[in-house]
Amino acid sequence: MSSDKKYTSIHYATYLELHKLLDAQHPRSKELGQEAHEETLFIIIHQVYELWFKQMIHEIESVMTMFRTNNVHERNIDEAVLRLERVNEILKLLIQQINVLETMTPIDFLEFRAYLFPASGFQSFQFRCFEVMLGLKLEKRIAYTSHKYYKEFSPEEQLTIEELEKSLSLFDLIQSWLERMPFIHFEGFEFKSKYLHAVENMLKKESDAIMQSEYLNSHEKEMRAKMNGDVSTFFKNIFNEEFHNQQISEGKVRLSYNASIAALMIQLYGTEPLLQLPCRLLNTITEMDELLTNWRYRHAQMVMRMLGRKTGTGGSSGHEYLMETVKKHQIFIDFHNISTLMIPRSDIPELPDVLKKELGFSFSQK
Ligand code: HEM
Repeated sequence: MSSDKKYTSIHYATYLELHKLLDAQHPRSKELGQEAHEETLFIIIHQVYELWFKQMIHEIESVMTMFRTNNVHERNIDEAVLRLERVNEILKLLIQQINVLETMTPIDFLEFRAYLFPASGFQSFQFRCFEVMLGLKLEKRIAYTSHKYYKEFSPEEQLTIEELEKSLSLFDLIQSWLERMPFIHFEGFEFKSKYLHAVENMLKKESDAIMQSEYLNSHEKEMRAKMNGDVSTFFKNIFNEEFHNQQISEGKVRLSYNASIAALMIQLYGTEPLLQLPCRLLNTITEMDELLTNWRYRHAQMVMRMLGRKTGTGGSSGHEYLMETVKKHQIFIDFHNISTLMIPRSDIPELPDVLKKELGFSFSQK
């Protein structure tokens, strides 16, 4: 009898708790004055965002759990990629939804905006959790209030954020997974000198193309050659661990030296069977960072359209503050920067047979 019980039937509305969900839209304009038609859209769109934030946190949390171990299983990487790809699809939706909101005109928004102070998306607890879980650090945040951003939340929520701030983020977990890649320390493979030789070849070809161009005058050629020289110095420093650590201490780079070299190797040799999934993982994370930045930019643009130069209900300068976050709140920027280090496929140093064989079937962590 009791075993049958778990299959009792349920109604669609009960399962989805629609009575709660559909009874959660109460325009303040109706309560406090004349109902503004557009306020329902404004409420629903924010609620939908919060639901998607919940789903994204659910996915990120599960991926972080997979990477909290010192021995990440390949099967987990596949699952992690699928879940992160789902997050990316949700982010695309979030960007698109702004179009729906923009069917509201700035003048219609003013019909109810005065009822919203000091409420703001700035107080979205879930959005902050998402950012912190990915790895946005307190000291990197653009601050426009004298208090920490999470002082906006309830005491329990503040505790949760403080805990999250102290724990390892997705960035930290991916970084230590990269640091554990065994093949970066492979004996007898002269990757460094071969790679630098290939870089020199690539830069020489570019330099020849500049010098032989019929479209550039001599001053332009000189400038381009100088820029090429700077790029060459940049490449030479790639394997300078001390220089890399100096860049980290100056806040110019975040990803550790070993993790950066592993990320470079994964991108260069990403077609080797055992590196295909790690390569997809890095690309998915880079895309996630890009999509979040796109959302920030799209939201800032929409704010400019709705408010112009007006300040935000949460007390920031509005568009200006949001544009600063577009530039400064990117988390995985070092993953994007790996592209600087790419060289043509034809110039990539050949892997020794024994390493090729290793990357062909089994892959184990230290
Ligand atoms: C008419 C529509 C909107 C306007 C005018 C607007 C305006 C603003 C402004 C001015 C800020 C900066 C903080 C402040 O001073 O209030 C802000 C922050 C924010 N808004 Fe919106 N917003 C709108 C719609 C949305 C929607 C639909 C969401 C989805 C949840 C959203 C999420 C956020 C988030 C997460 C922040 C914090 C961004 C950060 O600090 O990095 N906003 N919004």
